Amino acid sequence: MKRAVVIAVAAFLAGAAAVAVPNRMGATQILLAVLAAAGAALATALAVRLAMEERSRRQIEEARRQLVAAASHDLRTPLASLRLLVESIDDGVVTGETRDRYLGEIRTHVAVLSDLVDDLFELSRIEAGDISWAMRQVELGDLIGDTVAAMRAPAAERGVKIAAELPPGHVVAQANAEKVQRVLFNLIQNAIRHTPADGSVTVRARSEGGDVEVEVSDEGEGIPAADGERVFEAFYRGDAARGSEGAGLGLAISRAIVEAHGGKIWLEPGSPGTKVHFTLRGA
Ligand SMILES: Nc1ncnc2c1ncn2[C@@H]1O[C@H](COP(=O)(O)OP(=O)(O)O)[C@@H](O)[C@H]1O
Ligand SMILES: [Mg+2]
Repeated sequence: MKRAVVIAVAAFLAGAAAVAVPNRMGATQILLAVLAAAGAALATALAVRLAMEERSRRQIEEARRQLVAAASHDLRTPLASLRLLVESIDDGVVTGETRDRYLGEIRTHVAVLSDLVDDLFELSRIEAGDISWAMRQVELGDLIGDTVAAMRAPAAERGVKIAAELPPGHVVAQANAEKVQRVLFNLIQNAIRHTPADGSVTVRARSEGGDVEVEVSDEGEGIPAADGERVFEAFYRGDAARGSEGAGLGLAISRAIVEAHGGKIWLEPGSPGTKVHFTLRGA
């Protein structure tokens, strides 16, 4: 938009100067020339603006199309399994222990599906600006401590150590504790999943200027620079060979939550393993 205005003003000045200055014209002619230049400028501005709107409309449309395609793919796979499982129970083909096992699988698929739909719903609400979170002064040290404690068992299951490194004193942010905990959970879950046995995951926090900065680091294979910002896009799961265990929504939701708090989230480039940083406003 700003560029369109600058181009319009420049076109207007250039047009007016070119027409009015060299020839000594009467007032009416100058006025006409100025009006013509203004018209040209306006047309240029409109054309530039339309082109920009068309481009961003196409980008939004393309992003929406990809999102719907990815969502339907992710819904279709567990739904197809569910249908088969339900049909074989229904037909009486499976009985006894096998039937119980199938019921267990059905429960798992339903849980995965409802998590997926919850995540999609949350993401679309945040992106639509539907945010009515209570923001309070949150003691991040406590929040990180609690989250790390809750993740210790799943980490231990994979032989991964997890620790919080906090500065002495308080690290306080203006935030919604539940949403920030969700970000921490997503980042720590990724870190644990990508760290080999005997490796460790560390969560750090510090006050930085008026802000608070949190870092979740792991000793996994790292995120290739080529994946860069894309890992924060919905449904992006990187190289399939690296074996995502989720729907690819964790980092997208984390970014939406952090940005809704007025903060930023990014990957530290060039570090061994993965280091994800995010900021929140201090309090
Ligand atoms: N700590 C990490 N180490 C290596 N790769 C990661 C890490 N965190 C995220 N990624 C990559 O980013 C992708 C997106 O992450 P995320 O949005 O949490 O989705 P999901 O965990 O469901 O795959 C992952 O599939 C993975 O390829
Ligand atoms: Mg994840």
